[in-house]
Amino acid sequence: MLPQDHRQGHKNMTSFANQIINWQVEHGRNHLPWQKDNDPYRIWLSEIMLQQTGVKTVQRFYGKFLDQFPCLSSLSRATEDEVLRKWSGLGYYRRARNMLSAAKNIATTKNGKFPNTYEGLMALPGVGRSTAGAILVFAFGKNYPILDGNVKRVLARYFCIESPLAEGAVNKKLWQLSEQLLPKDNIQPYTQGLMDLGATICTKSKPKCHLCPLRRRCKTLKEGKCLVVPVRKKKSPTPVKETYMLITVNNGYLMMERRDYKGVWGGLLSFPEIGSQEQIRAWLADSDFKFINIKYLKSVTHIFSHYRAIIHPILAESEIKGKTFAGQSVFWLTYQDALEAAIPAAIRKIIRLNLQDLVDH
Ligand code: ADE
Repeated sequence: MLPQDHRQGHKNMTSFANQIINWQVEHGRNHLPWQKDNDPYRIWLSEIMLQQTGVKTVQRFYGKFLDQFPCLSSLSRATEDEVLRKWSGLGYYRRARNMLSAAKNIATTKNGKFPNTYEGLMALPGVGRSTAGAILVFAFGKNYPILDGNVKRVLARYFCIESPLAEGAVNKKLWQLSEQLLPKDNIQPYTQGLMDLGATICTKSKPKCHLCPLRRRCKTLKEGKCLVVPVRKKKSPTPVKETYMLITVNNGYLMMERRDYKGVWGGLLSFPEIGSQEQIRAWLADSDFKFINIKYLKSVTHIFSHYRAIIHPILAESEIKGKTFAGQSVFWLTYQDALEAAIPAAIRKIIRLNLQDLVDH
């Protein structure tokens, strides 16, 4: 019994990998900007950008980031503001701060040599097990498993795992499978194929099973459960946070401040934010600034991973360009400079939506 089971398992695994490899070569994505070479720095950058952002968006940022920081050494010499400016609009800014600190660390303590081991990569801030695996595969051709959201879905469907993916035991099982299924050869097209399959065929909704190389052995397809597997926990409704921002203008300049590292958009420039209208009123009564022509502008909604923020911007002119506001140092930027600064996408949207006339002048 045992030897036969073992053979059967082995055959299945080989066939799983082979189907994916053959499919990837013919139908996968083979012209993505980070597939041009195997420079570990460039691969690392792509994997970090792709952690929370889709391929389409990353493609808009990846080349521009590399134009300014073409190698690890150039990134290690950058300031945080320069890096955040290039990351501006991509979101999850901790990724950029982590990359900068990792680059500085590699430059000073590792003689500029990018780590090429699992342990070395896992020691970098912002690199988890799946990202380390992807870098080892694409930069060094090593056989390591990955398990990002797309791959979890492919495996959960192939094996018809009906427990919610968020459960720790399921995650552990998926990692085991990802490891067992690794082929001996062709690790790069295999890994890329898993990613491509999840992104283009085995999609969350309306999977294109008729085009899937795994359709003959996919247990979920066989059982007709593609709409229920993978099982996701019932989502509680997304909380909404309302907040206010004070846009102070003086003679063509906007007042901005650098955000605290503890909260969202840490290290980026923003308008001073406060949670209630009463507090805004207290600010507006600030004696130093002498605010005039105060008015509400159009509100903007921004989706974060765990909540939705509705930002109510309030425009006020000030007769002075103070150096501090509500105890914080502030910067005065022209509209154009503000748009080119390290600002979050929501702030850019507020400026574009409400202050376009002023920007054009
Ligand atoms: N998602 C994560 N890594 C990726 C890669 N290298 N190519 C496409 N999508 C990805």
